[in-house]
Amino acid sequence: MTFQELQPKVTEITSNTSLSRDEKLLAVCQFLSDSISYYNWVGFYFANHETKTLHLGSYVGAETDHTVIPFGKGICGQVAISNNNFVVPDVSAQDNYIACSFTVKSEIVVPLFVNGKNIGQIDIDSHVIDPFTEEDERFLEFVNQEIAKLYQDMNNLKV
Ligand code: SME
Repeated sequence: MTFQELQPKVTEITSNTSLSRDEKLLAVCQFLSDSISYYNWVGFYFANHETKTLHLGSYVGAETDHTVIPFGKGICGQVAISNNNFVVPDVSAQDNYIACSFTVKSEIVVPLFVNGKNIGQIDIDSHVIDPFTEEDERFLEFVNQEIAKLYQDMNNLKV
């Protein structure tokens, strides 16, 4: 399936009224991991802006020790501060990187904005070197926009 074909399927999940918000997040992770061969770990981290830490939410893939990541640490922690997408074609070339598994070769992190505030991010690890293109970025921005709609009513997101 192309990214264009995947988009309505993502919306189908996020607008499914019989699922809770956490079930939707997990279903989106599962769908992305099942649909895109080089998406080998897919998960969401959510920011606590008081403690300046990221907290692991729903994910699909190998279990990770990194359930809490301080702002600034690793690829995820840097995105919490920069508010920009971070594409890492080869993780071995990164200084500020938190390794989860030696099988991971590359990573993409795209921030999740709700009403302009960076509340977290989608994080994807791949076992392939340099698989991510601008199409992945645009697609994951779309995914996050759909997820953001589930958080729109919350003034104070606590994680
Ligand atoms: N590699 C990430 C840590 C999170 S794991 O990929 C699940 C990082 O450097 O921030």
